[in-house]
Amino acid sequence: MTQFQNVVYEKRKRACIITISRPDKLNALNAKVLDELDEALAISEQDSEVSGVVITGAGDKAFVAGADITELNKLDVLSGKEFSERGQAVFDRIERLGKPVIAAVNGYALGGGSELAWACHIRIASKNAKFGQPEVALGIIPGYGGTQRLVRLAGRGVATELIVTGSQVNAETALSLGLVNKVVEPDELIPESLRIVNQISERAPFAIRLALQAIEAAVELPQADGLKVEAQLFAVCCGTEDQKEGTSAFLAKRNPVWKGK
Ligand code: COA
Repeated sequence: MTQFQNVVYEKRKRACIITISRPDKLNALNAKVLDELDEALAISEQDSEVSGVVITGAGDKAFVAGADITELNKLDVLSGKEFSERGQAVFDRIERLGKPVIAAVNGYALGGGSELAWACHIRIASKNAKFGQPEVALGIIPGYGGTQRLVRLAGRGVATELIVTGSQVNAETALSLGLVNKVVEPDELIPESLRIVNQISERAPFAIRLALQAIEAAVELPQADGLKVEAQLFAVCCGTEDQKEGTSAFLAKRNPVWKGK
């Protein structure tokens, strides 16, 4: 376990759990938390034993209640741009980590907290989770990728309604809107997230990395270009030892032993 000031990094077999831990402020993201989250993500990225990452919040009330409003209050035009770009960079790192990242949403996920969840590849919500983009109530707009990722995740209508009303949705509504993959009881949140990572850990790690890249292309590119990316990445897979191993293991009716190359 690595204990930063406001972030805890913990390994559980092939998974790591990154917990944002600033419970007295409902795990709000200040500059220090963002730096520590960035550092924890770097550790998970470099650790070849880690197949997947779970991000959650400390306590049972909040995942992350947003960017720190005390810091927001001090921003001007120049520092506001830097503030937004810093958050965007950390959340981009999540999206491009090369390993699936699961948001285990255990309560309020508001503003930057929702944006953190949108940046993860998979979202599991506990029944008490609440999502929302309340920025317009503070005289700002989402600045950590929310205007871009929420549109891609939920479509323009849903994203626009959430962003311009600032209203919150509960876990069941989030599920019906396609914002989360699954809703579970609070005490099942981490076990279910770890079960998903465990399943991922049984698959070919290099193929997972490339699958994430191909999925990213589907979000970023027109379909014809995305299909080209898919064919290129499929071809790369066919040059790996894992492709020979996976297909040979199937034919020999045995379990594959992955090399990650
Ligand atoms: N930034 C800084 N501090 C925050 C925070 C944030 N985003 N969200 C909560 N806190 C702090 C509160 O100021 C309070 O601190 P205090 O005890 O020193 O006064 C503490 O966390 C507990 O929050 P509190 O508001 O008392 O809890 P609550 O149960 O009454 O309400 C929320 C919970 C989430 C509804 C409420 O805290 C809230 O609306 N937070 C802001 C959400 C937001 O707008 N986020 C987007 C920012 S872009």
